[in-house]
Amino acid sequence: RSCLLLGAPVDSGKKSRGCLMGPDAYRTAGLAESLSDLGHDVRDLGNVCPAPFAPDTAPLPHALNETIAWTKALAEAAQEAMTQGLPIFMGGDHVLAAGTVSGVANYAATQGRPLFVLWLDAHTDYHTPQSTSSGNLHGTPVAYFTGRSGFEGFPPVANPVPQENICMIGLRSVDAAEHDALQATEIRTHDMRDIDENGIVKPLAAFLKDVAAQNGLLHVSLDVDFLDPSVAPAVGTTVPGGATVREAHLVMEMLHDSGLLTSMDLVELNPFLDERGRTASLMVDLAASALGRRVFDRPTRCF
Ligand code: ARG
Ligand code: MN
Ligand code: MN
Ligand code: MN
Repeated sequence: RSCLLLGAPVDSGKKSRGCLMGPDAYRTAGLAESLSDLGHDVRDLGNVCPAPFAPDTAPLPHALNETIAWTKALAEAAQEAMTQGLPIFMGGDHVLAAGTVSGVANYAATQGRPLFVLWLDAHTDYHTPQSTSSGNLHGTPVAYFTGRSGFEGFPPVANPVPQENICMIGLRSVDAAEHDALQATEIRTHDMRDIDENGIVKPLAAFLKDVAAQNGLLHVSLDVDFLDPSVAPAVGTTVPGGATVREAHLVMEMLHDSGLLTSMDLVELNPFLDERGRTASLMVDLAASALGRRVFDRPTRCF
């Protein structure tokens, strides 16, 4: 399958600016070249563009109509890209996953296959537009694509992702309203304590096993703040105590070994906050690991 790069310069999911530069930072850091060096056929399809949108009628949530326009455009682009290859969405803040995941879910439905989502993030992004206290919609995409109510004005979610098909790893900043809502769901949540106690391999292997058993499609949404801020400073919502470079590469290598990955988001990179491109370069290296870069091949399956 071809790797398709789609720029999603979404900057509407929060008030501080800069994620709109993300796609060009990935291009500058050599994402396309890194993947073609692995032998993949890589096509950069350029940036997705939202349709014109009306001004907002309320100050909060922030940039609602712009976000709705992005969600529509990205859902369509994602569904179409899935027919062509393995799309990598170069963000853009995390609200872009409202569009990409719902679009991929629509594609999965046409194939009669279930969609699974691996959410690598410090945050659960499970707010609704009503429960968010920040008013920042980048804290809401999981609630949207699982079909929670409260997203009036957004495209209706035709194929909500089942809760039990979602696995979150890296959690260490969850608001009370998200926590309470998540308690009532089947979403698999692995906080950093869980990773410290049990390692990152076990929960991921268990999830991948289920994806394989159900012949699922697998979408991975990688938020820069999954990583520890000491190695990935270019993000507006840093939270100390994140994944190490080694843990993150291990996740990506296991994803490649599983052969299950069918689409991916790279989100929340804010190049305005980077140091000599080190965060963009790390994200490119992680994407390369997910697409097959390794030191030595492993003879055994990872799950
Ligand atoms: N829960 C917080 C909020 O609602 C932080 C969300 C951070 N999300 C992100 N995609 N960085 O504002
Ligand atoms: Mn996020
Ligand atoms: Mn986050
Ligand atoms: Mn490969």
